[in-house]
Amino acid sequence: MMAAAVAGQFVFLRPRVGPLRTFRRFRYKKKWAATLPRIPCTRLALQNFDMNYGLQFGDRWPSIRISLLSEQKYCALINNFAQSEKVIEKLELLTARDFIYESCRRSLAPELAIAAGSSPEEPRRGCLDVQDEELRQQMTLAGDGAANAQAALLQSPLDYPSIKCYTFGKGDISRFSPARLDSLGLLSYYLMDAASILPVLALNVQPGDDVLDLCAAPGGKSLALLQMERCRHLTANDISASRTGRLHTILQSYVPRELRAPGSLRITCCDGRSWAEEEGSTYDKVLVDVPCTTDRHSLLEEDNNIFHKMRTKERQRLPMLQLELLIAGVLAAKPTGEVVYSTCSLSQLQNEYVVERAVSVAAEHGVNVHVEDLSFFRGLFQDTFCFFDGCRVGELVLPHLTANFGPAYFCKLRRVT
Ligand SMILES: C[S@@+](CC[C@H](N)C(=O)[O-])C[C@H]1O[C@@H](n2cnc3c(N)ncnc32)[C@H](O)[C@@H]1O
Repeated sequence: MMAAAVAGQFVFLRPRVGPLRTFRRFRYKKKWAATLPRIPCTRLALQNFDMNYGLQFGDRWPSIRISLLSEQKYCALINNFAQSEKVIEKLELLTARDFIYESCRRSLAPELAIAAGSSPEEPRRGCLDVQDEELRQQMTLAGDGAANAQAALLQSPLDYPSIKCYTFGKGDISRFSPARLDSLGLLSYYLMDAASILPVLALNVQPGDDVLDLCAAPGGKSLALLQMERCRHLTANDISASRTGRLHTILQSYVPRELRAPGSLRITCCDGRSWAEEEGSTYDKVLVDVPCTTDRHSLLEEDNNIFHKMRTKERQRLPMLQLELLIAGVLAAKPTGEVVYSTCSLSQLQNEYVVERAVSVAAEHGVNVHVEDLSFFRGLFQDTFCFFDGCRVGELVLPHLTANFGPAYFCKLRRVT
C-alpha cells in the first residue's frame, strides 16, 4: 500500500496488480481465425506434396519439387484456321520446333530407311498427311522390313496430319510472345503446357469420329481436338457456367464461325457425372480431363487454390469425383469406343488408383474395359519431355528443369463390351 497526501488528508492507494479493468464497451472477443497469421495455401500445398510425393518419388522428389517451383514452359499450338504461315516462319527463326513433327520424323527415320532399302528423304515440312500416305506406300512396296515400320507407324501419332505444336528445345527457357490477331480476326496460336497435348494425341481421333470432351473448360484440349480437323462432331462440356463462358470466348477467338455451327460443335454446361443417363454408348472417343489438385497452380497461386482450408473437404473428395467422371466417360463411349483419362497432378491417388478402380467398378456393371499400353509415347517424345517410368497404368510427364512441362498424367481405356 502506498500513502499519498490529497488536500491535507492521507488516503491509501490500492497497488495495481492484475489487468486493468476495462469497460464492457471496450471488451472484445478474440477471433482466432481472423487474427492468427494465415498459412498461405501455397505453403500448405508444398507441405502436403513434400509428405506424399516425397514417399511416392523418393530420390526424384527434390528435382521434381524445384522444377514445380520454377517457371513453367509453354508450347504454341498453331491455329490452323488462322493465317499462320508467317507466324510459323517467325517461330522457326526463334529456333522453336514443332515437337510432334520432329519426334515422329526422328523415330521413324531408321525404320523407313530399312523398309525402303535406302536413307529416307528429308520429309517436307508441315505436310505430314501427304508424307504419311507416301510413307505407307513406300512400306507396302518395301517387302519384309516394312512390317516393323508399319507397326511403328500405326502406333505413332503421325496419324495426326495437321496439329502443329511449337516448343523451345530442352534447356531453352525462351518465352513465346502473346499471339496476335490475323486479318480474319483469329488468333495465330494458343499457349499451353505442351504435355497437355499428349492426352489429345492419345485419343487417336479418326476422321468421322464423334468426340466428347467431358470436362472441357477453359478449352485448350478442345481447341487441340479441333485443330486435327478430324472430328465429325465435338461436344465440349463443363459443369461451371463461368468456365464454359471462357470456353466460348476461346473457341470464338480461334475457330471460324462456320466450324462452330451446331452441326460440328456443341458446348454444354452439365454435370458430367450423369452424362450417360442422356447419351450412353454414343461416342467414338471421350476425353475425361478431370478437376484435380493442379499441382503447379497450387504451389504458385493463392487465388482459387484447392489447398485453401475452406476447400479441404472438396480436395479430399477429388478422387471420388474423378472416379465418377471417368465411369461416366466410359459409359458415354460406344462399346468399342476409346476413353482418355488425364490430370495435371502427380498424385497416384488421383491417377493410377482412379483408373484401376474405374476398371473394376465398370466390370461390376457389366462393362469391360481394357487399359491400353501407351509406353511408345515415352520413346517417341523423350527428347521433349521427362517421363516417369514407374506408373502401373498410363504415362506421367514429370516436371524437369531442362524440360519444365507437366505434370501431366494420361491413361487410355478401350471399351471391350
Ligand atoms: C482440368 S480442368 C479441364 C481443362 C480443360 N480440359 C482444358 O484443356 O482446358 C477440369 C474441369 O472440370 C470441370 N468439372 C468439375 N466437375 C465437373 C463435373 N462434375 N462435370 C463436368 N465438369 C466438371 C471444372 O469446371 C474444370 O473446368
